[in-house]
Parts: sequence; C-alpha cells; structure tokens
Amino acid sequence: AAGAAPGGALAGNRILVTAGGTREPLDPVRYLGNRSSGKQGTALARAAAAAGGSVHLVAANVGAEVLAGLPPTVTVTEVETTAELAEACAAAQPESDVIIMSAAVSDYRAAETAAHKMKKSGDEGLRIELVQNPDILAGLVRTRAGDQLIVGFAAETGSPEAGPEQLAREKLLRKGCDLLVLNDVSAGKAFGTDTNAIVLYARDGDAVSEVLRTEGTKDEVSEKVVAGVASVLHG
Ligand code: CTP
Ligand code: CA
Repeated sequence: AAGAAPGGALAGNRILVTAGGTREPLDPVRYLGNRSSGKQGTALARAAAAAGGSVHLVAANVGAEVLAGLPPTVTVTEVETTAELAEACAAAQPESDVIIMSAAVSDYRAAETAAHKMKKSGDEGLRIELVQNPDILAGLVRTRAGDQLIVGFAAETGSPEAGPEQLAREKLLRKGCDLLVLNDVSAGKAFGTDTNAIVLYARDGDAVSEVLRTEGTKDEVSEKVVAGVASVLHG
C-alpha cells in the first residue's frame, strides 16, 4: 500500500518531479506538442511518496485521470508551456533535495504566437518559424546549490551510429546532471506496450556507471528508480 512509511528510503527528503509534455501555442487554438501522457512521471511521484518523500509534481498537460492516481500528499502544479515549466522548476528548486526531470520538453516553440486564429490563405502551404527553447535541466544544473541530486531522462531509439546506451551515456555527460534514466524505445521495446525497459546511469566527473537495469510496468520501474536514487542520495 502507498502509505508513506516513516523510515522509507526517501523519508525526510523533498522530491521535485516533472511529468507530461510541454505545449507551445501557435495561435489561440493550436499548439506544437508531443505524445507524453505523464504516466511515467506520475508513477515516479507515486513511488517517491510511497518511499516517504515529500513530493511536488509539476505536471505539463497531464490528464485529470492520470493525476487522479496520485496520493493526496503530493502537491501538484499544472503548467502548459516550456516557459511555465521552467518557471515552476526554478521556483521549486531551492526547496528540493532531489529533482527528477521526466517531462518531455518541447525543443522548439513558435518564434511568434499569432494573437488571432490563423486563417488559410488561398491554396498555399504554411511555414512556421521555430526557435529553440532553453534547456531546463541544464539550467537547473547550473543554478543548483550544495548537494542537490538532479536526475535526467532520455528516451532513445538509437541510430545507425550509436545505440541507445551510448547515446544515454553521452547525454548524461553533456547535461551534467548526476543520474540519467534511459528509456530504451528501440525496436521490440516499442511505445504502446505496457512495460518499460530502463537503465539508470550515474555520473562521477567524466565517468559514467550503470546503477541498475530493469523492465516492467511504469509503477515497477518507478519503484526501482526511486530505490536507486535513494541509494545514491544516501551514499
Ligand atoms: N530537457 C529539458 N529542457 C529541454 C529539453 C530537455 O529540461 N529544453 C530535459 C528532459 O526533461 C530530459 C532531458 O533533458 O530530462 C533529456 O531530454 P532529451 O529530449 O532526451 O534531450 P535533448 O537535450 O533535448 O536532446 P535531443 O532531443 O536532441 O536528443
Ligand atoms: Ca529533446
């Protein structure tokens, strides 16, 4: 059961979790977004709360039915855009011992948002100019104080040049966070299945080590990730 065990692995720790996917408005009725449901981030928040952590979830466009699966002890802040997610994370950072950045952040936003609903013009196509969003995770790494633990996420399919595991290791070094969860979405471990295959990596300077690898439901892998994070947090 989900009762916060006194003496759980995260007892006394404040955990910030981001979940879902950001949306960038194009005009008052349209947006650029992604397919993240927020189920993995919500499962992590649930597992962190069950381990005794004091959990703040920043949820980007997570459905009410998904949020309904959270225990009432979890504080929820709802956001829509990457700018709103960045602001909520910056505000919560000083009050967090651990930050788990599982939200799917839109890499781009429209250079300009139309004030009125865009209309078709003749039979022309449409070009929309995009600009890159700031990297929230990298920003949190830059502004962190003391021994705050920062956990990034990466969903990788791999490419002809590099497999998912190599890409994840490189991303961990590039981002400068402490831990990185690889969600292996290569062939055979595709979207739409009920299970996730994940590997948790830790960074120590320029060295990356594997903390654990596991496969299971989003709740099962979340429990393992939370246990791995707690073990790193407590040395
Ligand atoms: N992330 C972030 N801000 C962004 C983009 C990503 O905080 N603007 C975070 C995600 O929440 C995740 C981690 O960075 O924890 C990795 O995200 P990912 O999209 O895999 O990495 P990118 O650096 O955007 O690289 P790419 O999409 O090109 O693989
Ligand atoms: Ca990205």
